[in-house]
Amino acid sequence: MEEPTTAEVGERLAAWAGRFNARFEALLVPSEPVPPIMVEAVRYAAASGGKRVRPYIVTRTCELCGGTEDDALPAAAALECVHAFSLVHDDLPAMDNDDFRRGRPTCHKAYGEAVAILAGDALVTLAFELLATRMKDPQKIVRAVTELARGAGWAGMIGGQTEDILGEKCAPDLERVRQIHRGKTARLFEAAGRLGAISAGADEAQTSAAAEFGHYLGLAFQIADDILDVTGSAQELGKAVAKDAQAGKQTYPAAVGLEESRRIARTFVDKAIGALRIFGPAADDLRALVRFVIDRKK
Ligand code: IPE
Ligand code: IPE
Ligand code: MG
Ligand code: MG
Ligand code: MG
Repeated sequence: MEEPTTAEVGERLAAWAGRFNARFEALLVPSEPVPPIMVEAVRYAAASGGKRVRPYIVTRTCELCGGTEDDALPAAAALECVHAFSLVHDDLPAMDNDDFRRGRPTCHKAYGEAVAILAGDALVTLAFELLATRMKDPQKIVRAVTELARGAGWAGMIGGQTEDILGEKCAPDLERVRQIHRGKTARLFEAAGRLGAISAGADEAQTSAAAEFGHYLGLAFQIADDILDVTGSAQELGKAVAKDAQAGKQTYPAAVGLEESRRIARTFVDKAIGALRIFGPAADDLRALVRFVIDRKK
């Protein structure tokens, strides 16, 4: 079978995202009274488009390890909640100060800063509530909570975001950029692979392969994001471009230029694909996803 083109992978992911969105949105309904503005702001931030790459990885790695889409849903939804939280806070004036996200005003532009901060808080706590209440096996719950907390937390995404902010307006430094990307992006992608494996009850070898795949895919994904900030279109991306240089961010293009950034991204692509070896041809769609991630326009 021929490997699908980037456009085809994009279409498949979008079709899958459509199905995921319906199930995800059904989980974004409170079981107790909640201030209506909070429900609105949370749904605005989370149920608002987005490529859904991370929950797709959770789902497909779960299936590759012998689980089902249903097995993966709580962890896929939880991870997307953490991602949505990270975006709401990333866009705040105190952080990247962005007005557009996913083709519309950012959460704080629509609801004000206080509600946006609280909506982020609500999303991250909801993530752990979903794991604790929707996953079935208590042992899996403990492992999933641990991995998501570590991936998102002070040594993971939040740590990376801290270094990203501290690195602004400093001389571009490749080692620093690598550190930032590992934290702010790759740790959540690695958690996606791990959560998929855990949801399926995978063995150790499958779990580390899924985690390694996520890690390298995350590194490639963030280089592509940095490149798109330089070369992409705001229309297609649904967010402002040319913001990184303006803010003096530590990025691959700033540290090594566009060409070298692309070359390094390809080395991570190869490593991500290499990590899928143990899954055989069943992982072909993830191999195509890896290439899509660096060829994408949005
Ligand atoms: C944006 O992530 C933040 C990064 C880590 C680069 P995505 O590009 O996955 O954003 P959505 O979810 O598709 O909007
Ligand atoms: C975001 O990196 C990483 C997280 C939200 C954790 P960016 O700041 O580059 O993401 P965009 O470009 O705003 O989507
Ligand atoms: Mg940022
Ligand atoms: Mg940003
Ligand atoms: Mg960016």
